[in-house]
Amino acid sequence: MKRLAQVGVLASGKGTNLQALAEACRAPGFPARIALVISNVPDSGALERARTLGLSAAVIDHRAFDSRAKFEQALVDRLKVAGVEWVCLAGFMRVLGPTFLTAFLGRVLNIHPSLLPSFPGLHAVQQAFDRGVKVTGCTVHLVEEEVDAGPIIAQEAVPVFESDGPESLAARVHEAEHRIFPLALRWVAEGRVRFEGRVARIRAAENGES
Ligand code: GRF
Repeated sequence: MKRLAQVGVLASGKGTNLQALAEACRAPGFPARIALVISNVPDSGALERARTLGLSAAVIDHRAFDSRAKFEQALVDRLKVAGVEWVCLAGFMRVLGPTFLTAFLGRVLNIHPSLLPSFPGLHAVQQAFDRGVKVTGCTVHLVEEEVDAGPIIAQEAVPVFESDGPESLAARVHEAEHRIFPLALRWVAEGRVRFEGRVARIRAAENGES
């Protein structure tokens, strides 16, 4: 049996992406497992879901630290003890800096609710809706220090319908997130992603699957 990539998930919010990743990891043949979930928000839905899913979970509240570096070092220490190799940011509402990103260099994935490089930052679905785009979507990218700017690994387009409001659009973007985040995790865990400068190249699967 192949060794599974050990994944840490950081989440601050509802945790629907955490759930999608956890469900993917349960499927036979999926090349990764979630070793630890950390939330910076003690009463987050993500933590609740982690417990329900039977995952190891911890709270590391950023408010308990007097600097970002110390908070990040606490995250790193906990993840390393759990043997984590890849980190998925699943709605983690803290910007990560050099302390964290150096410790997991090239191994941090983020999900963002727009087709980057359009609409980086907060409220991306609302931004896209207000701008009147006819197609938006979501992106999984490698995390670098510049927010929402790292190499793009996977994207899914979501059409904007005339009947849409921000909520209905956000719901469909969310559904797309739940498809591409596990897909991107599978690709990196299988070692199929390499980078040519800022461009991620995905090698085809040996069995012809995506
Ligand atoms: C998602 O929309 C994701 O794109 C953004 O934060 C949200 C997290 O949602 N980074 P959930 O907590 O996974 O439901």
